[in-house]
Amino acid sequence: MKILMVCLGNICRSPMAQGIMESMLVDKKLNWVVDSAGTSGWHAGEQPDARAIAAAKEHGIDISGQRSRKMTSRDMEEFDIILTMDSQNYSDVLHTYASDDTKHKVHLIRNLSEPNKNLAVPDPYYDGRFEDVYQLLAKTMNNVLNHLLVEEVA
Ligand code: 4NP
Repeated sequence: MKILMVCLGNICRSPMAQGIMESMLVDKKLNWVVDSAGTSGWHAGEQPDARAIAAAKEHGIDISGQRSRKMTSRDMEEFDIILTMDSQNYSDVLHTYASDDTKHKVHLIRNLSEPNKNLAVPDPYYDGRFEDVYQLLAKTMNNVLNHLLVEEVA
């Protein structure tokens, strides 16, 4: 299973999502691939936001080695599932990168945890609520992993 986490800047939400998922995969001894990208390239090449690094570190997860990158069309082929953080990311990925053959791979991440509600992972970049977003992602990711495990055997 190859999972891509996508947000706007790839410095706050999707790097934390990647770090949390990677840590869960280690715990479960699952040899899956997780990466993250942004719909914008505004922060390409940069480390995650210092506040995201600090929030993850508080929970024993090191995301400081990640570097921001802009999503590409090739990612749609490369990954099995594309998990977006909010409805803007979702529609940007669908319209800019997905094709009729690949659009089924794109999801709002929280819909895998709370189906059909179309809830967002709020952007902490401006309001600084990194711990809240971390907690939300951690809770969501538990359900995401269970969902993907069921899908894998199906
Ligand atoms: P992210 O947060 O999409 O969770 O990485 C943001 C990071 C940077 C900006 C906006 C959101 N920005 O405007 O530069």
